[in-house]
This record gives sequence, structure tokens and C-alpha cells, in this order.
Amino acid sequence: MNICMKLSIGLFLSQMFLLVLTEKQSSSNPPSAFPSSFLFGTASSAYQYEGAYLSDGKGLNNWDVYSHKPGNNIDDESNGDIAVDHYHKYLEDIDLMHSLGVNSYRFSISWARILPKGRFGEINEAGIEFYNNLIDALLVKDIKPLVTMTQFDFPQELEDRYGSWLSPQSQEDFAYFADICFKSFGDRVKYWVTFNEPDVQVRSGYRTGTFPPSRCSGPFGDCTDGDSEKEPFVAAHNIILAHIAAVHIYRTKYQETQGGSIGFVLHCDWYEPISNSIADMLAAERAQAFTINWFLEPIINGRYPLEMQNILGSILPDFSTVEKQKLNKALDFIGVNHYSSYYVRDCMFSECKPGTGTSKTEGYWAQSSQKNGIPIGEPIEQDGSSFYPQGMEKIVTYLKERYHNIPMIVTENGFADTKPNSTTEELIHDAARVKYLAGHLNALSTAIRKGADVRGYFVWSLLDDFEWINGYIFRFGLHHVDYKTLKRTPKSSATWYKKFISQHI
Ligand code: BGC
Repeated sequence: MNICMKLSIGLFLSQMFLLVLTEKQSSSNPPSAFPSSFLFGTASSAYQYEGAYLSDGKGLNNWDVYSHKPGNNIDDESNGDIAVDHYHKYLEDIDLMHSLGVNSYRFSISWARILPKGRFGEINEAGIEFYNNLIDALLVKDIKPLVTMTQFDFPQELEDRYGSWLSPQSQEDFAYFADICFKSFGDRVKYWVTFNEPDVQVRSGYRTGTFPPSRCSGPFGDCTDGDSEKEPFVAAHNIILAHIAAVHIYRTKYQETQGGSIGFVLHCDWYEPISNSIADMLAAERAQAFTINWFLEPIINGRYPLEMQNILGSILPDFSTVEKQKLNKALDFIGVNHYSSYYVRDCMFSECKPGTGTSKTEGYWAQSSQKNGIPIGEPIEQDGSSFYPQGMEKIVTYLKERYHNIPMIVTENGFADTKPNSTTEELIHDAARVKYLAGHLNALSTAIRKGADVRGYFVWSLLDDFEWINGYIFRFGLHHVDYKTLKRTPKSSATWYKKFISQHI
């Protein structure tokens, strides 16, 4: 055998060895559960991030007005006037996203920046320009925008003129705004969300009165005006019909040429029956009915959930025949914001102490984080929540089964540091956040492997930000923000997320 033959046999054998090794490695490392088209991103919203509340022709919105009122519910008496100044720092923030390796960014539009007076005034071209610049700069870095049209904020004009969501006029305003968004940005935006967590919005705005427009009645809260047992259903009804109107416009005027999809986001806690009794299992189902299915059932199947109809009767508004025709799979994906899980017990047949969920108009159920003194998962700081990542798999599987596996996107999942006196050093070494995100992503991958059609996952949030009534006390960011200098610093979780993404796309 000459030297050349020996060399080529050697080369052949070493190539075979590498091949076997690679095969062995890939069979011991199962392929990622996340398909190659999967969206990995971070989420934000206009009022919580942008600041610049009076810049370049923006009108006042409901949160601008609310946060400036003495006696509001904001824990640190702060507001979003500056927030994290994303309006001026968006290029820096896109660089942070790019260095994480995300392929998507969820943000919301400030309605009053585009339409300072709703449909009663001119379009503010500077507002359109801001979002055009933001979208273009994202696309340059291969980051796909997922755009929420409104995340709790809307022009104050609509509140002052006709009481915003309590009036059917709000449907017309939203449709008008949505049309402008599709027309201005739809050539580049392929994922739209109409509303973010309207379940939270109407509960806080009209039942407990803890969000603007601060309407409620006793015993749910202490407001100057409102009806906690009626108004949440009226506001929700108008929001559902506003969503339908926007979807109708998108599907008839834009979707075919623009080729995007449109969805609706809900606050999807997981409710675990506290026992195997039929009463507790039905109570857990009622908890889902009175929170998420309240919106999804009409939008997908054209009627309110039976659990709500049976209990509420005529308190629930009706849909007209024409509306019912439009209420037929009026979304392309369900946006799932998942943070926490709770035990649920029945309050229809058993006595419960008054609290969230227990009244008739909330569906007669009570939530708790413990069963016989044992927590559902390791307690975490935020709002009595627990680390129970199985809740992610369970809620996604629940939605898959109930709604025939309509595509889903996890539009928010995140962990808050809530101690106001923590040092920057402590906040940056955020091992608890890493554990939370890793656990939830792992549970999500299990749901996907078992067949759930989930197309994306967004961490709440890229940065620490203004957290509604928790002000700047709650910090959800992968990046720490120094609120004096607005300097952004990556936390351990940013490094971890970057590595996770690189291993999965
Ligand atoms: C909301 C976000 C909020 C997050 C964390 C979600 O309910 O959609 O706007 O910041 O929770 O509190």
C-alpha cells in the first residue's frame, strides 16, 4: 500500500469517526422543541417604556392624566412621563436586543401619539414617523416586530367625550385607529395584536377602580362613581366588538396583500382545582371562564361561555345577529401572558371569605397559593405568586384542547424583583429570574413536544420599566435601569437568555 492510499484510508476512517460521533451526539441531545421559525423575543409597552409624554405633538392619554392625579393608586407616586425614555433611546435598546440574539420584539403603539384626539382630530405625522423609524431599525437587525395596538393606554379625549369603553362609540374609534396602523405599518409588521389583557383592564378600571378610569362600587372598591357588577361586562363587550371591527378591516382590506396575522392577548394564570371534588373542578373551570374564556369564547365561537351565561343571565350584553356572524374564529393566534398559578376552590356550594373571584359576578371561586399550608410552588416575591413552571405547560395545553390548537404565542412571561431597597449589585445577579425563565421555557418545550402549536415566546421585559400601579418598584428587566441616569446594564438573566436562544435557533 503506497503512502497516498494509506493517507486516504486514514482520512476516510477519521471522517467516519466524526460522522458516528455527530450522530451519537445528536441522538443523545434530542432536537430542540422550538421550530426554526420560532420567535424568541422580549416585550414592552408604550406607556411603560416610551416617556416623551408631551413630545412632538403627542396627546394626553388616560394614564398620563391618571398618574398626575393626587391620590391615585401608584405605589411610589411615580408616572410614565419619562419612563425609560425608549422614545429617544430606541436605537440603543435595539442594540441590546441584537446582542441578546432575539429575532423578535413586541412593543405597543401609543394611540395618543398617533391620534392625539382619537378620530376627532388630525393624525400626528411625527407619531407615525417614530414608529416607522422603530420598525425599520428593528428590521435592519433582523428583528421582527410584533405590534400591540393598545396596552391599557388610549387618548384621554375618548374618556372625556363619551366614557371610553363604556360607550359603543369606542368601537368606531378603535377601528379607525387600527386602519391607520395597518395602512402605515402593515407592509412591514406581520404580527398584530389588538388588545393586551382586557380582562385585567376592565377588572382594574371598572371593578376595583385601581386603573383609570377608576370606576367601581362597594364592596369592590371606593370610587366616586361606577358599578362594579355591571360596567366590567359593558366595557368588555365593547372591547370584543372593537377587536372584531379591527379584524374585519384587516381581513377584508389588508391581510391578503400584507400577509400578516392578527391576535388577541390575555392574562392567562393557571388555576389548579384545590381538590378532586367536582365542585372544585367546576370552580377552576369557572375561574377560566370569567377571565380568559370571557373574551376567547365569543371571539372564537361567537358566544359568551356557558358558565357566565348561567350565572349572569341578563347582566351579560347580547350580540346581534350581524355581530355573531363576524364572531367566528376572529383571530389568527392567541397571545398568552403567563406569570402565575393558583389553587382554586368552589364558593358556589361552600362558604368562602370575601375576596377576588368569590362574588356572583366574578363566578363564585376563590384562589389561594397554598393547599393545607403547603404552597403550590416555591413562593416568589411578586404579588403572592409562586414558582410553578408546570402552570405554563398546563395553560398552553388547556388552550390547545379547548380551542382546537389555534396557534399560540407566549406574549409575556417574566419575574419581578420587588424589594425597593435592593442594591444594583443584588439586582444584576438575578439567579432567581434565570431559574424562573429556564423553568417556564422547559415546561413550554414539553407542551410543544406534546403537540401544542406555540409559535413564539417573549420575556417580560427587555428593561426594568414603569409597572403600572407598582410604579418603578417592581423590576422585570433582563437589563437593569438606573432611573437617575437611565443607564442600562445587562443582568445575569440577559447572558443566560442569549445563550439559551443561541442553542435553540
Ligand atoms: C402586563 C404588563 C405588565 C406585566 C407585569 C402584564 O399583566 O401586560 O403590562 O407590565 O404584566 O406586571
